[in-house]
Amino acid sequence: MTESPSNATTGPRPGGAVSLGDALVRIHDDLRVRLAALREEVLAFLDGRQPAPDLAAQLREHCTEVCGALGEHHDNEETRGFPLLEREAPHLAPVLDRLRREHVEVERARRNLQALLDDLGAADPERVRAELDRVTARLDAHFAYEEEQLRGALNGISV
Ligand SMILES: [Fe+2]
Ligand SMILES: [Fe+2]
Repeated sequence: MTESPSNATTGPRPGGAVSLGDALVRIHDDLRVRLAALREEVLAFLDGRQPAPDLAAQLREHCTEVCGALGEHHDNEETRGFPLLEREAPHLAPVLDRLRREHVEVERARRNLQALLDDLGAADPERVRAELDRVTARLDAHFAYEEEQLRGALNGISV
């Protein structure tokens, strides 16, 4: 995915610029949809609802793609968004510290899940389901906290 979604909440600013906080929510929404689709594919595979011979390979590819987009998003936050906020809204420093710690946790959970999906045929289905639940819940909480804490501040920054 790209990191340049259009604005869905308040409309584009004059001149076509996008409010950064609204852009963040759009990026999260895109990731939510893609992760939900991946989750559904994995559950269908585990339940035997889609017994295509190459589905495991497709799933690995899809997982790599979605996880790559997630990693790219977090990299962008750490190298661009968070430093910008540190300059423009220094009171958010404790929030940004927490979000950086959460990125590390999400990355760990994501790697665990990807390792399981890399050998899905041999994986314990209950463990895969549990990892899927864990990653989904962790990301939902991370996205919600980030939006709650950063959206307003980001929308107030002119770039
Ligand atoms: Fe984040
Ligand atoms: Fe984010």
